[in-house]
Formats: sequence, C-alpha cells, structure tokens
Amino acid sequence: MINDKLKKAREYEVRKEKEIAPDKRPAFHLTPRVGWMNDPNGFSYHNGEYHLFYQYHPYGTNWGPMHWGHAVSKDLLKWEYCPTALAPDESYDNFGCFSGSADTLDDGRQILMYTGVQSTKDEDGKEIVFQTQCIAVGDGTNFEKYEKNPVITADALPEGASKIDFRDPKIWKEKDGTFRCVVGSRPADGSGQILLYSSKDGFSWNFEQILIQNKNRFGKMWECPDFFEVDGKWLLMVSPQDMMPVGLEYGAGNGTLCVAGHLDENKHLVEEYTQSIDYGIDFYAPQTVLAPDGRRIMIGWMQNWDTCGVREDDMKWFGQTSCPREIQFVDGKLIQNPIRELSNYHKNTVSYSEVLISDCISLEKVSGRMIDLEVEIKPEDEENCYDKFVIQFAKNESFHSDIVFYPKESVLEIDRSWSGIRRAVQHQKKCKVADNNGSIKLRVILDRYSVEVFVNDGEHVMTATIYTDLEADGISFFADEICFYAEGKVKANVTKSDLEF
Ligand code: FRU
Repeated sequence: MINDKLKKAREYEVRKEKEIAPDKRPAFHLTPRVGWMNDPNGFSYHNGEYHLFYQYHPYGTNWGPMHWGHAVSKDLLKWEYCPTALAPDESYDNFGCFSGSADTLDDGRQILMYTGVQSTKDEDGKEIVFQTQCIAVGDGTNFEKYEKNPVITADALPEGASKIDFRDPKIWKEKDGTFRCVVGSRPADGSGQILLYSSKDGFSWNFEQILIQNKNRFGKMWECPDFFEVDGKWLLMVSPQDMMPVGLEYGAGNGTLCVAGHLDENKHLVEEYTQSIDYGIDFYAPQTVLAPDGRRIMIGWMQNWDTCGVREDDMKWFGQTSCPREIQFVDGKLIQNPIRELSNYHKNTVSYSEVLISDCISLEKVSGRMIDLEVEIKPEDEENCYDKFVIQFAKNESFHSDIVFYPKESVLEIDRSWSGIRRAVQHQKKCKVADNNGSIKLRVILDRYSVEVFVNDGEHVMTATIYTDLEADGISFFADEICFYAEGKVKANVTKSDLEF
C-alpha cells in the first residue's frame, strides 16, 4: 500500500531531482536523489541487481524524519534511482525509519529489516523516543510493512539494555536457511554491545545472545553493526559514537572499528585484533554485501556527523556513499581495495616511470577531478631519504588539498585546509603506515567532491570529502627537505586514468 507520506516523497523527488544537474553530483558515488543522505542501508544483491537503500530526508539537506531512499546497479558504480522505499508513516516508526538491511526470502520476495523509532509522550507530556526492529517485504520496488510490526521489541532485550539505543539490524541468511541479525545496543554501563537474534522465517525472531561488549573501550554506543566471515576470520564492523583518540589509530568523535576474531563453542565472538576501518575524515556506518562471485564488498557513508558543515551553500543534495571496496583479511589485517569494476571506466591512461621529484612539478595530462591515480615512490638514494613527499590535487591559484607522506615517521596525512572551506572543523588527519624505507604505494580515487586514498594495496584507507570549485583540477608533486643540507629526491612511477561514465 502506498500511503500519503510515501506518495508525497515519491512525487517530490521526481519533481525536485530535475533541479540538480548531473555534473553537479559525483559521477559514481551515490548521492541522495534530492535532499539529505546518511547511512547506506539494505545493501544487497536481489534478482540479478545490487540494491542500495539509504537514510534519506528528501525535503532538506539536513537530517530530518528518516525515509529510505533506494537505487539499483548492475556493477555498483552506475546507479539508477528507484522510488523512495519507506516513509515514517506508522505509529511504531513515526519518528523515522532508521538504518537496517535487506535480504531475499525463500519465496523470492525482498525483505527489509529496519529500526522503527517511535515518539510518544509520558504522563508529564515529555517526549520519549524508543526503538524497535521492523520488517517490510516487497518486490524490489514497492514494500509493504509487516502487519505484526515491530518484530523485535524491548521484550527481547537482555537485562539492563536501553530501549532508546537499540538499532540498525543487519540481517543475513545462514547456509542452513536460518536468518540471523545483529543489532546495536547500549547496556547499563552506557557503552555499546552487539546483540544476536535468529529467525526461521525472517518474521518471528528470538534473542540468542550478546555477541560482544564494548565495555567502554572503543567510544560508547556502537551503531550500524555488520558481521560476516571472510578469509577464515569473523569480522565485526561497527561505528562507535563518542570515540576518544588513541594515537593515530582512532580519532575523536564518530569512528569506525573492525573487530576480527573467531567464534567460541557458544558462538561468542572472541576478539583477536582491532583496527580502524578508515583513517580519513569522512567515513561512517559501512555495510557489506556478499557478491554472487563470493567477494565481500563494503560501502560506507562518506561523511562524518561532526563534519556535516563542510559543504557548498547552494547544494540541493548532501551526503554520498564511498567507493565500493573489496574486503579481504590477509596476514592478520583488514585489506580494502576499490572494486575491480572501476577499471572498466578508465580512459586516457598515461604513465610515467622513474620520474625524479624534488621541486614542485606537474606531469602532462595528470590532472582532473574524476580520476584513478597510482603513485608509487621510493627514495632516489636510500642513504639520503627525503623528509616529506606531497601530492597536491584539486588545485588552482586559490585552492589545493594535500596528501603528505613523512617517510621517517611512516605517517601519511590528508589535509584539506586550503580546499575552500569556510568552516573550522577537522581538515587534517594522520595515519601510521608500514615502514618500507621511504617507499609507499598510493592509489588516489577522485570523484568531483571526494578523495579516497588506498595505501600499499589496501592496508589503510583515508577518505575525505572536498567541495572545492570543480575548475580546480590541477595536480602537482614535490619532495621536501626539512634540513637545508638534505637533498633527498623521490623516484616516482605515476599512472593516471580518467574515470568516464
Ligand atoms: C548512524 C545512525 C544510525 C541510525 C541512523 C539515523 O549514522 O545514527 O544509528 O539508525 O543514523 O539516521
């Protein structure tokens, strides 16, 4: 049934999307059809297509009553919008249809599982908001909310867990046909934990256990969990709120965390290793899909709650998803690389080998704001290593953003201070990378309003949005010495391809 709120959103987006010129959006990072986007939701493969839903407020470029926007793609790069999938039109989700996920039922229908947020008043007239898990089922375009919603309520919470912070179910089907889901929860200690539920049919759910507890180590509440096996390890991806910085591994605010481990005999996740998922400025709430060919592919919200003020004033959309990343777990570490389909859109490839770099140089035909750029560098002379290597991009006389490598500390920095932003929020972020005697391999993906830097074949990723005037498309390189007597130069191999869609 398409009721009033959904109908209104569907009509509105069709009317208003015409006001957004296609070249004022990223080319392959999904943006909301109109208005606001946050988390990717319902990332799934259904009926021969990838589906990506997202937290959506069509009526403005700030967060508002949450709908689910929807797009489909054959290759995760060229997206086609579908009509709004969900609107907050029931009593149990009147405050919003918050984040969730999707899968396919045994009968072939698509199932969406999301958090219904209900706002009511207590006897003193004070607003209370609480969260439950809900279901909608459909044909891939239109979805009917289940008449017995909500399907997981406070009754199925372990003792002490908050009814207010209980959200973001990620559903999957086990090999034996059982559905499971993980949900973010706040226990009595005020931090986060992940709850595991199971269901035979996708509709009737039982609490199984607490999968893992944060115990106030990594931020507080854990949002948007995803849980899957890859390369023989179980990985839990979560997005903690209220992080405190820890060295260069975790930054303050909303962050991302990957916990790798194994399952004990009681199916608890036994933690073996933890790391950030992305070390840049703008990446949150990632979700994965298992592709038909077995690849585990992840997409995140290419944004951070604290940096939402970084934008152009007259934008009619806000929020984008990240480049889809292939996830692996190799030698005890998370490895992320841009999906291989990206190379299908390479055009005008140019390569330079063993270029000697000290003073600021540009290379002919190495420029642009929609490019895939590979830069592999090493010191010209290992005994006399350079102090700093810089790639400046989105550059003209007024603006530039920088990727800076300090070989002696093995630190990579992203810096968008001069990208044209007028807001005083975080513009720099540093990441500790492998010490390879001054060598480093960078793959830099630019798409109009963003940069994603994949380091050393995916060992680290740094992501940031930039809203620099699109005319600033220059790229230059230089190597610097901090001491006047050091003259270390860099030897670089550079390959650039335009990305054309
Ligand atoms: C994460 C989040 C989710 C929630 C959604 C609301 O960014 O806070 O926990 O479901 O956004 O839009």
